[in-house]
Amino acid sequence: MSSLPLESERTVLSPASGERSDVRVEPLPQLPPRRQPTLVTSNVQLALQLPSELPQLAIEPEWKVQQRLWGHSFHPMCSYLASFPAGLVHAFIARYTRPGDVVLDPFSGRGTTPLQACAEGRIGVGNDLNPFAHILTAAKVDPPTKADVKTRLASLRLAWAASAGEWSGLADSVAANPGSPEIVVPGPGSRSVSGIESAGRDALVPAEVALAFHPRTLAQLLYLRAGLDPDNRTDRFLLATLTGILHGKSASYLSAVMPNTFSMAPRYVRDFVARTSFHSPERDAFALLDDKLRRLYRQPLPRTRGIALLGDARDAGIHFREALSARGLPERARLVVTSPPYLRVVKYGYYNWLRLWLLGYDAAAIDDLLDDAHHRDAYLVFMREVLRGLRSALADDAVIALVIGDVELDRGRPTAGGIGLAESVWELAAAPEGYRLAGIALDDVAAGRKMTKLWGEEAGQATKLDRILVLATSEAGRRRAVNGATLPIDWEWPQRSLRAL
Ligand SMILES: C[S@@+](CC[C@H](N)C(=O)[O-])C[C@H]1O[C@@H](n2cnc3c(N)ncnc32)[C@H](O)[C@@H]1O
Repeated sequence: MSSLPLESERTVLSPASGERSDVRVEPLPQLPPRRQPTLVTSNVQLALQLPSELPQLAIEPEWKVQQRLWGHSFHPMCSYLASFPAGLVHAFIARYTRPGDVVLDPFSGRGTTPLQACAEGRIGVGNDLNPFAHILTAAKVDPPTKADVKTRLASLRLAWAASAGEWSGLADSVAANPGSPEIVVPGPGSRSVSGIESAGRDALVPAEVALAFHPRTLAQLLYLRAGLDPDNRTDRFLLATLTGILHGKSASYLSAVMPNTFSMAPRYVRDFVARTSFHSPERDAFALLDDKLRRLYRQPLPRTRGIALLGDARDAGIHFREALSARGLPERARLVVTSPPYLRVVKYGYYNWLRLWLLGYDAAAIDDLLDDAHHRDAYLVFMREVLRGLRSALADDAVIALVIGDVELDRGRPTAGGIGLAESVWELAAAPEGYRLAGIALDDVAAGRKMTKLWGEEAGQATKLDRILVLATSEAGRRRAVNGATLPIDWEWPQRSLRAL
């Protein structure tokens, strides 16, 4: 059996077709343009000659040296492009909050910040405009008990056994005529799990979906997709877990046609299948779901229940407050840890089209909605609006950590304004809104690793330097951020008190 090659996570799009062009991020031909450092510069900065004109904050990037899956066992539920590690969030939670404090992320992605906050006894609140991100975040911060999810899976399995013949017949006809407009299947969430007969929306199955799965696996997916209700806590958790095992390179995934990190282009899938006569191996969705659930529930549930909102980050402040107040919780956050969308690097809809099909969303419509395609000036206006909107949900001494990566390539071409983006966000988005600057923390370990690769074979990886812009809402917050930066913190995980639960 052959399958598509694994690709680097950082990919570019061909502007004309919108299709992924499978171009790797190009190696750096030379060091980036330089400016003279004016304030503190670390050894790595000096070596790389990547100056920051903003004061440096001495937060050690200790998250870089933790074990790969450091943090709560729900984090790896599903891969998500440009997500940050749970340890990065912990470095801020441990220094700048106490149990019971509210921690926000207006661009929560797969929910790293709110989940880790809840796992550490804080109230984690996430927001994202992408419904896929929302489902992942909601599943993690408002999860069912292990017993509930096991019981639900068992009843789904039983009902499947009773109706497998019908669903398999349907999937066989889809597989025999991939992409046929004549064959309709029950749409997402349209059927009760008890049978195929009940009324509901019908849907077509795109050819590239039909080609990605073994007919038996497709039958189970059609059944689960029609029967699971995303508004129900337990079903949502199962749906989110299914997105995480939908495609990947090992036997723990339902389709072997593409890697786990992102969806290959639909056209690429169709061409690949035609060229190689690829047939996806049969995989049992119930067995693989069961395995994945066992891994996810390896640790106790997060200590507190959080909140996941679906909406535009520009309006997040008011919605955060409303949601917190409705639950009788403190309305203002002491910490924000977030990474805004990069400049034209990731298309969250397009790179997740197969997962979005499962959830019943159109990838192109999601990309039209999201703010991941701005050029620099529009991006800075967007960030200013986000920071303005957030202000009302922040405590007087709140600390705000914005993880901002430099972007050197825009869809394959050198980008204008992608370097030093964090500095521009400070000058043109945060300062005008009255925020105070604590400093910039550089991802030095990564920079060191990139530096060693810079002249080596893997120089292509050395294309960006993440910076963490640390802001505060007041002078008291700024001092809190600066004084807390060097506090030693505990990296033991699971935390002792958590294990005792
Ligand atoms: C870099 S990712 C965040 C990843 C996250 N830190 C994690 O660890 O998973 C940026 C997120 O911004 C979201 N996004 C883009 N435009 C948005 C908007 N206007 N409002 C809210 N979220 C938006 C994208 O859907 C994406 O999930």
